[in-house]
Amino acid sequence: MKHAYFTKPSPLKTLGINELIAKGGKLREEHGRLTMDDFFFEWILNLIEATKNHEKYREKECINLIASEGLKSPAVREMLSICQDLESRYAEGTNTLEGLVKERYYQGQKYITPIENLVASLLKKLFNCTWVDIRLVSGTHANLATFKGLSMVTRNNKMIVAPLRCGAHISHDYTGLAGSIIGLETINHAYDLDELNIDPDKSATIIEATRPGIVTFGGSLFLFPHPVKELVEVSREVGAYIVYDAAHVLGLIAGGQFQDPLREGADFITSSTHKTFPGPQGGVILANSDTERMREAIKSVQHSVFPLSTSNTHLGRLPAVGLVALEMKLFGEELAKQTIRNAQIAGEYLYENGLKVLGENKGFTRSHQLAIDVQAYGGGKVVAEKLEKANIILNKNLLPYDDQRNRENPSGIRVGFQDVTRRGFMKDDIQHLCDLMLDVIRNRKTPSQVRGEVMELRKKFTEIKYGFKSVEEVINYVGKYA
Ligand SMILES: Cc1ncc(COP(=O)(O)O)c(C=O)c1O
Repeated sequence: MKHAYFTKPSPLKTLGINELIAKGGKLREEHGRLTMDDFFFEWILNLIEATKNHEKYREKECINLIASEGLKSPAVREMLSICQDLESRYAEGTNTLEGLVKERYYQGQKYITPIENLVASLLKKLFNCTWVDIRLVSGTHANLATFKGLSMVTRNNKMIVAPLRCGAHISHDYTGLAGSIIGLETINHAYDLDELNIDPDKSATIIEATRPGIVTFGGSLFLFPHPVKELVEVSREVGAYIVYDAAHVLGLIAGGQFQDPLREGADFITSSTHKTFPGPQGGVILANSDTERMREAIKSVQHSVFPLSTSNTHLGRLPAVGLVALEMKLFGEELAKQTIRNAQIAGEYLYENGLKVLGENKGFTRSHQLAIDVQAYGGGKVVAEKLEKANIILNKNLLPYDDQRNRENPSGIRVGFQDVTRRGFMKDDIQHLCDLMLDVIRNRKTPSQVRGEVMELRKKFTEIKYGFKSVEEVINYVGKYA
């Protein structure tokens, strides 16, 4: 039954939320009968409308090239929608050194414990490691727990990170989580602008001289695999743990198409579960618990997860994460290969058509991303905003040679190809998309002229590939083998 309030005609019906807020006091004076309840009901209607509009706009009308976002399959979405009760529950407690449930402080865990254990087992198998923590609610949370845990166990508050402008995430930086929340002193890796990568020789000297407790790799602008194996020995010598932040590239690692950090000598992988790994928003930490050194570190990281930084662990996302592990096992290689291929095709095409795509001497990228210098067209902010008007959504980005303080108006844009690849874009579609981007960037057409063409192109792709269409399809598929 419709609530009586929603059927009541309201004098505010025609106003948008911003007008309501701006004119709220005045309107109340003009219409003495307006109460706080009127505002509440109007805001709820506006909220529902904005939500529906968002779903249509970003899901159906835009082409999404934000490199840090993922696209879930229909089966994964369905799995999330099944977890209505689970999404309301708690499972605080401790885990074993295999990443399984040891003790829970709440009753009612009859099925929650197997769910947590199954998801942990699926991820350990997929990434070929012996320990995982799935309780993190985001990639930033995974970094928080790992950096804090390791700084406690090493009693060392120095951490080596890529410079922010060269791709580190804000959570690695002294101005963000690492420095401002955990109190770590961050020291920059040396960075080679020609290679668009960490300089292993110079960084080895920095590690030797500064003797940090943590050496990090990985980042948000992440075009080429980082020199992990080159820096393992010196990191071990000074007693540092290596943390590889795979937030952007976890799906590519799962598909075997990027570096394999744990095999190269990284001690921990931290990650989001919703970028190239196309799951629900959440976080994860992976490692091997096979040495005393690692077991000590893992215990400290686990302590940082619980009780230091979690209470509820957003349980409702976990079965969907497990399902993504299956999708990545079956389709991850093909998806990762095509994602990287699409990024390289776009790099080549945009470069040939006059854009300054970074890394041309190295094939532009080995990941899902491109970095493009658009200073000649007004800078990253201007270009990203113009493309947005054409319904092509990407973000401005600092480039490795930018002034770090220039975050508001950096030289570059970052373009990610994981979403369009999962929708089925192949070479011709990618080049078509690049033409539309060039039309806007080079002012060949106005953004509103291009918007219709973008929506037409988007409409051609009606499926999400490299995954399952429904939970039933998963059951039928797996049932054949189980
Ligand atoms: C390298 C890196 N680490 C961590 C994060 C944070 O992840 P989350 O948004 O899941 O907190 C990001 C976000 O984009 C990232 O790029």
